[in-house]
Amino acid sequence: MEKFSVSDNTRHLLLQPRAWLVAWLTLGLLAISAAVHSAEVEFSQATQACLACHDKPGMVKKLENAQSFSLHVSGKAYAESMHKDTECEDCHDAIDAKTHGKMVSEIKSHRSFAMDMGESCRSCHKKKVTEYEDSIHAALVKDGNSKAPLCSSCHNPHTVRSTEILTPITDTPCAQCHEEIFKAYANDVHGQQRSAKGIGAPLCAGCHQAHNVKAASLGNGVKDACLACHKDAVQLHKVWLPNTDRHFEAILCAACHSPNAQRRVNLRLYDGSNKHQVSEKMGVPQFDRRTDSVDTQNLGLNERALWSLLKEFNQDSHDGKTVLQGRLEVSSGVAAHQLSDKSKAIKDCNFCHQKGAEPFQSVSLTIAGPDGRPLRHGIQKDVLNSLLSIDSVRGFYAIGGTRIKLFDTLLVMVFLGALSVPLVHMTVKRLFKNIREKLERERLAARADPGRQEPSPALTGDRRADGTTNK
Ligand code: HEC
Ligand code: HEC
Ligand code: HEC
Ligand code: HEC
Ligand code: HEC
Ligand code: HEC
Ligand code: HEC
Ligand code: HEC
Ligand code: HEC
Repeated sequence: MEKFSVSDNTRHLLLQPRAWLVAWLTLGLLAISAAVHSAEVEFSQATQACLACHDKPGMVKKLENAQSFSLHVSGKAYAESMHKDTECEDCHDAIDAKTHGKMVSEIKSHRSFAMDMGESCRSCHKKKVTEYEDSIHAALVKDGNSKAPLCSSCHNPHTVRSTEILTPITDTPCAQCHEEIFKAYANDVHGQQRSAKGIGAPLCAGCHQAHNVKAASLGNGVKDACLACHKDAVQLHKVWLPNTDRHFEAILCAACHSPNAQRRVNLRLYDGSNKHQVSEKMGVPQFDRRTDSVDTQNLGLNERALWSLLKEFNQDSHDGKTVLQGRLEVSSGVAAHQLSDKSKAIKDCNFCHQKGAEPFQSVSLTIAGPDGRPLRHGIQKDVLNSLLSIDSVRGFYAIGGTRIKLFDTLLVMVFLGALSVPLVHMTVKRLFKNIREKLERERLAARADPGRQEPSPALTGDRRADGTTNK
């Protein structure tokens, strides 16, 4: 297509409405070949034509919901944008030149218009569109959430600059919607580093991705992102932290690196056969119904309620292996973004490995919701200890468990994370052999003690049927 460009000399002229009107009329009739040079950008005639009307600050339309909708598109910003060579009509292909601008079009709201334009990126950015469609944001949009971002929420198509240009962190599109998290991030090690040095440290998308954003606590995506930058982290922790891999599995990095955070133990439902988090089935909400039915007063699940709940979930799973995996985490999304420098990180083993340790005072149970975000229910904290008294939980050690004081002093403890609890039977995967033996001895001793709480018959029974033993 033939193009002409706008020279700086003629720009002031062209900005006048009458000049544009003339141009618009003329353009419809003949192709102008006289290309004027100077500005780097060459707009096509069609684009010029659109800008003739739309490059007017203050051009506004009242929408059906009474919103004012600005129809101004700055030609200057457009010329500086990554879409400068893209025709308006490449995206606005539904515009009918005959009637456009002469008739009032029906637009309910800005959002509905943006939704209608949603398909316009696909033809040129197929990969990003596919990634986005797999994201929690797209799932939320599909679900009717009017606050979840569309492409144009994060990229103004008329002004988009190269994403390689470094801008202040406040320009990240994520900040407009996740304000509290952004504030926390801006003051933490990465935000500070990013502001000071510009590169290297991640912005939101560096840990969560920009398009294929997943529920943050689902899978290992975010942790893998940490370890992809901090390649030597495992090695550096190994110097002082025994069994680092296990600690990394059982503890969210932020639980040690956000020193002022509140912490909690989260027992997550896993499918033992495929090692994925159990997720709420679409359309048939189970979690709330089931937790409410075993915890009618909403006091938090006690030991027995937890068992009967697990049993119900187990009936859904093919091979009867719904398990619990404990993870020590921070209690709020904000606290996950308050990472401090290493001198403030928690290094004291006793912080966790002693009776009544703070992180174990709050316990929750979660399942992945339909979009991956956790659905949560409280658990009474002594469930962690009382699990110990159940016959089937051989070798499970919860911090603060009164029965195994010996190990408090040995620092070798907490098998919480390994608390892979096949429904009625809990298996502790990795135990130091000697611990297991000692626990066994303790257990036998306790059995001889008549004051000891009897194991639930149902549990023991199932365990025999299950036949699993500690691995
Ligand atoms: C890369 C695709 C694309 C190109 C190119 C494009 N637009 Fe848009 N345009 C959109 C999208 C998407 C929206 C809806 C954005 C939103 O959420 O407001 C939009 C909205 C608009 C609106 C409504 C006001 C607004 O800002 O939302 C006007 C007017 C408009 N475009 C005019 C133009 C003109 C004139 C050009 C050429 C100079 C152009 N567009 C080029 C995609 C594009
Ligand atoms: C003659 C002036 C004129 C020209 C030329 C023009 N527009 Fe418009 N445009 C308008 C007016 C006026 C409205 C508001 C219509 C209304 O109130 O519904 C509008 C509305 C829009 C809207 C908002 C959505 C809608 O359909 O109402 C978009 C998007 C848009 N124009 C894009 C373009 C594009 C792209 C071009 C070039 C192909 C273009 N316009 C050319 C005058 C013009
Ligand atoms: C007709 C093709 C076309 C369409 C449709 C289109 N774009 Fe683009 N877009 C481009 C081109 C060409 C570039 C220049 C950079 C490049 O080659 O990737 C670009 C660049 C971008 C960039 C900056 C990329 C970078 O390298 O930093 C973003 C962001 C972007 N487009 C978003 C969108 C969005 C959002 C939509 C839909 C509203 C859209 N684009 C529709 C052609 C298109
Ligand atoms: C939640 C905000 C958000 C949404 C929604 C979003 N993007 Fe992006 N996009 C970003 C950010 C941030 C970057 C730059 C950082 C990055 O890729 O790591 C980016 C980069 C891009 C780039 C350039 C990246 C490259 O590698 O060349 C293109 C093209 C793009 N987006 C297109 C789209 C399209 C098309 C859509 C809709 C399907 C979309 N974006 C939706 C935030 C978003
Ligand atoms: C237009 C608003 C908007 C923008 C922009 C936006 N988000 Fe979101 N995002 C939401 C909404 C709404 C939700 C669902 C409610 C919630 O969890 O806060 C959500 C959810 C999320 C979740 C899942 C939360 C969870 O509990 O696991 C993550 C992660 C996320 N966004 C990251 C980002 C990142 C990274 C960016 C920038 C690349 C971004 N968001 C930009 C609106 C937005
Ligand atoms: C250094 C990596 C990192 C950066 C940078 C980062 N996040 Fe996160 N984000 C995390 C981690 C880790 C979690 C918690 C994951 C979990 O619970 O397993 C999280 C959780 C979230 C959640 C879910 C919060 C909730 O209530 O559960 C949202 C939303 C989110 N981040 C958005 C953002 C936004 C927006 C930014 C940028 C301002 C950002 N993140 C920057 C690592 C990061
Ligand atoms: C049990 C608590 C704990 C956990 C869990 C933990 N860290 Fe650390 N981390 C520390 C302590 C303490 C230091 C400081 C060690 C020192 O200086 O001797 C540290 C240091 C670091 C450093 C700086 C390394 C150096 O020496 O330069 C990085 C980076 C780091 N951790 C990242 C991570 C990541 C990523 C994770 C999660 C995968 C994680 N940490 C999990 C406690 C922890
Ligand atoms: C895009 C790369 C990148 C990602 C992803 C990333 N970091 Fe960092 N991180 C950095 C950079 C750069 C610094 C500042 C320089 C340094 O101290 O190494 C830093 C600093 C740190 C520090 C302070 C180290 C010190 O020496 O005091 C900790 C702790 C840390 N990051 C933890 C994490 C955790 C936890 C995650 C994941 C939730 C993560 N990082 C994700 C790049 C990254
Ligand atoms: C932030 C809390 C926290 C800190 C600090 C901590 N641990 Fe742990 N540790 C845990 C948790 C949770 C587990 C449970 C892992 C599991 O169930 O296997 C664990 C497990 C262990 C295990 C058993 C590993 C295995 O094979 O299953 C040993 C040994 C251990 N910690 C020693 C230490 C020592 C020594 C320190 C101090 C240098 C320390 N821990 C610091 C929370 C912590």
